[in-house]
Amino acid sequence: MVNLINLKWRHIVLSLSCLLLLIACHQTHADLNTTLKGAKYLKVACDPTFIPFEIQKANGNLEGFDIDLMNAIASVAGFTVQFESLPFDGMVSSLQAKRIDAAISGITITTERLKTISFSRPYLKAGLAIAVREDTQDIKDFNSLQGKKIAVQIGTPGVDLAKTIPNAKISTFNSGPEFFQDLLNGNADAVLCDAFATLYVMKIGNLKGIKLVGNPVTEEYYGIATPKNSPYLDVINKSIATLFSNGTYKKIYQKWFDSEPPQIPAATRN
Ligand code: ARG
Repeated sequence: MVNLINLKWRHIVLSLSCLLLLIACHQTHADLNTTLKGAKYLKVACDPTFIPFEIQKANGNLEGFDIDLMNAIASVAGFTVQFESLPFDGMVSSLQAKRIDAAISGITITTERLKTISFSRPYLKAGLAIAVREDTQDIKDFNSLQGKKIAVQIGTPGVDLAKTIPNAKISTFNSGPEFFQDLLNGNADAVLCDAFATLYVMKIGNLKGIKLVGNPVTEEYYGIATPKNSPYLDVINKSIATLFSNGTYKKIYQKWFDSEPPQIPAATRN
């Protein structure tokens, strides 16, 4: 008898839990739909010249850390991504004009950019480093860049930093491969480049004759950029938080960087 009653109760408790679970699932879904305003896909721009964050394979497919992360965000949030290749320099204006819903491209969250566009919570810690030719002796740190010829990528924090160096002659390029070429040609003495991306290219052996000197010169955080007041920002942020807590972020990080991810703050100080 006691057993029978127990069983009955267990049945009721179980059915109730299932019902609660169903209601909970339904609610998250309803939330998402209202946030996404019925959108099934987001148009996301990237400049696929930035190994290992975004690169275009010979067959046209995009791959990289950012591509995996964006697709994981989309699958948590329940939309699909339509990637569009755009030159890095045109990213901010395309966001301002709302021609794209978002951009993921190793974009550093900066105070300057925050004046015209919005960013998701930071998803990667990075920083600028100094790259020189292997035989260079006289450039050892940031101070020794005075009066030197420095190459940087157009529209990046590297340009602002280079401008603070006394008597530096600055040349700007559209993409990473171009400014490294300039360095190897001897046209530039040093390049201010993303330490992370550069170390990766050196590791896979695609960058010969170049070394990094000194310590990283800046600490930066990458974020996903959106137009100001984007209706998608909230769902993107919630999805990044989910990927941090459910181990997916760690998996993607290990796939590309072969190491444990560092702690990423929930917001930058900008
Ligand atoms: N982190 C730098 C910036 O935000 C460079 C990013 C370059 N990314 C690219 N996909 N080309 O300015």
